[in-house]
Amino acid sequence: MTRARIIDGKAIAAKIRNHIALKTATLAQKHGITPGLAVILVGENMASQTYVRNKARATTAVGMESFGHLLPEETTQENLIALVHKLNADARVHGILVQLPLPGHMNEAAVLAEVTPEKDVDGFHFANVGKLVLGLPCLPPCTPSGILALLKETLGNLDGLRALVIGRSNIVGKPLSIMLTNENCTVTLAHSKTRNIAAECARADIIVSAVGKPEFLRGEWIKPGATVIDVGINHVLVPEDAGGDGEKKKLVGDVCFNEALDVAKAITPVPGGVGPMTIAMLLENTLKAACMQAGISLPEEDPQP
Ligand code: GUN
Repeated sequence: MTRARIIDGKAIAAKIRNHIALKTATLAQKHGITPGLAVILVGENMASQTYVRNKARATTAVGMESFGHLLPEETTQENLIALVHKLNADARVHGILVQLPLPGHMNEAAVLAEVTPEKDVDGFHFANVGKLVLGLPCLPPCTPSGILALLKETLGNLDGLRALVIGRSNIVGKPLSIMLTNENCTVTLAHSKTRNIAAECARADIIVSAVGKPEFLRGEWIKPGATVIDVGINHVLVPEDAGGDGEKKKLVGDVCFNEALDVAKAITPVPGGVGPMTIAMLLENTLKAACMQAGISLPEEDPQP
């Protein structure tokens, strides 16, 4: 039996970031515009701190400006919204991202609704979600965009394929189900109340899992030749090597990777699959937002001599 192709999200994302860097340079040279991305982090969630740091690094690496805003955990929702309004009005800022989750005393939907849709590079504002559903031009959400790019890179045309999306979050599952529908897939959106997940997997040409349950999706559920995208990022403790009685931390996805390798046609690893694509798509949205706000089309890649 042939083993699945491992989809190298890290390499594909690096290629996309290179293209973005070239276009960013052209935008600066031809139009004097440097795209700016503002990221707001509230509190000290460790995972969020890492994500925000990585986003800032990637932003400056492609030649964009990065504006970091750190607010204390006990900040009021009014304070946070006042900062969002300030950034909405700041001409140097073309994209605004409010890192989620927000502290429990805040209403996430109410905060996200205050980001002006033209700067909503996360694609979370209801105006962008509505446009996505209607198939109109919009700023699409980053992780689903990254998944779609990986699927197109792997499969080409997605017309008529059966896609199973597991997990109905507002960030990944729900918008991805719409985007795959717009790509002419026949889509099933499964979730925690789905009765027989194995049966749903058995008929899917594409499986995307975004539920955050370590290695719950078994190889024997997968249809031979299917393409599997694993969005899960799960930290688990495993025994130390060489028979010691200690434990070490390991990152695993939602899919039993080794089992899936023997059945699937292609599969994303964790880490190094979907994760790097999310940041690449965030940069793409920031570039797109800067161009939209200036009323110009996306630049060519080659800066003029
Ligand atoms: N938290 C986890 N994923 C995301 C994301 O894509 N955007 C934001 N803003 N917060 C997140």
